Amino acid sequence: MTIDAAEYRRRRDRFTDKIGKGTAIFASAPLSVMHHDVEYPFRQESDFFYLTGFDEPGAVVVLAPHHEEHKFVLFVQPKDLEKETWTGYRTGVEKAKEQYDADEVFPINELNEKLPEYLKNADRIYYHLGRDEAFNNKIVRHWKHFIQQYPKRGKGPIAIEDSNPTLHPLRQIKSEAEIELVRKAAKVAAEAHNRALEFAKPGVCEYQIQAEIEYTFKSHGMDIAYPSIVASGENACILHYVENNRQIQQGDLLLIDAGCSYHYYNSDITRTFSVGAPFSKEQQIIYELVLEAQLQAISQVKPGNDYKTIHDTAVCVLVGGLLDLGLLKGDFEQIVEEEKYKPFYMHRTGHWLGLDVHDAGIYQHGEEQSVILEPGHILTVEPGIYISPHIKPAEEQPEIPDRWHGIGVRIEDDVLVTQNGCEVLTSDVPKSVAEMQKI
Ligand code: GLY
Ligand code: MN
Ligand code: MN
Repeated sequence: MTIDAAEYRRRRDRFTDKIGKGTAIFASAPLSVMHHDVEYPFRQESDFFYLTGFDEPGAVVVLAPHHEEHKFVLFVQPKDLEKETWTGYRTGVEKAKEQYDADEVFPINELNEKLPEYLKNADRIYYHLGRDEAFNNKIVRHWKHFIQQYPKRGKGPIAIEDSNPTLHPLRQIKSEAEIELVRKAAKVAAEAHNRALEFAKPGVCEYQIQAEIEYTFKSHGMDIAYPSIVASGENACILHYVENNRQIQQGDLLLIDAGCSYHYYNSDITRTFSVGAPFSKEQQIIYELVLEAQLQAISQVKPGNDYKTIHDTAVCVLVGGLLDLGLLKGDFEQIVEEEKYKPFYMHRTGHWLGLDVHDAGIYQHGEEQSVILEPGHILTVEPGIYISPHIKPAEEQPEIPDRWHGIGVRIEDDVLVTQNGCEVLTSDVPKSVAEMQKI
């Protein structure tokens, strides 16, 4: 099951209902990123893909709901059999019109010439300033032209408005079809983590575990959602460890953060387990504490709750535990308020998940109001504790005894907000203390 044409149409309609007399422009990913003549894998821009389903580079979509005939216009790479021999298949202008439901399709090299037709009666341009500066400048030049004409014409776009605040709330609530895609990515990531659990032994290198994980992804036709983290021993204390080149030693904790991408919808799972020996006393204490924080945080995932509650719940459990262990000292409220736990826990407890791993959408409306959870939100819940050998306790906090050093634990699941509570999409991977000791 993927996203059908009717759903793409619904998405465009819901978006264009909100922009009224505006014209929106979204660029696809650029043609290719070259590195000494080698192309990196192409990855479509998520906003562009969300609205079109068109999976080719070097294209632009223009949505002009106020235009008489052409409300949905695609600009694409034209067919060119010689170029396609090198860079792959192109749908081309004619087929794109019929396959993607567009009112009109033009070759991309006509963008400059055709764009004014779709801007001239718009009251504003909806466009997100992206990484492609040349394209940003192109849009600004078009806008400038209309501003200069404004005194004579008395109409035309008077502003460029960021498209994110209009589009991203739509992306934040997932449809049934989107949930199915994330569910599938979650299932395969769970299978990969279970395979890693089987495969991990003292003497095996981190990259061998990575290979087993990514073999599982690829054998289901999926790609990595982000560079897989396979971090043994103290490497687990490096949040974005990607070298994956150490040989695993008996008694190490192994932290694996790996997820996959299915039709661009992502999963994101972390598990931490001991290899070749039961947990040491300290490892087990920290593992149990992180697990408790995660379970309590997940129990807060339900419609009507603040997004912020999830992080706050995890922090309260972690700080309580660290105080009991003497790894933090002082007043609970003050430690939380002044974030003195940050040397142990320096990241947020999760993020939205969808077409992007760190998916579109805000978390806060200004300082005061956190986003309220609704059915259809998908988020990760991923508390951790990291006691790096180089940890620097916060001011007036105790030094950490050596026996704790090098312990890093994170547990991450993908959670769907449902009508009544939540569903953990990644529950096929175990996380109980008993199952996380690979003896
Ligand atoms: N693996 C990226 C993240 O957990 O956010
Ligand atoms: Mn994550
Ligand atoms: Mn992750």
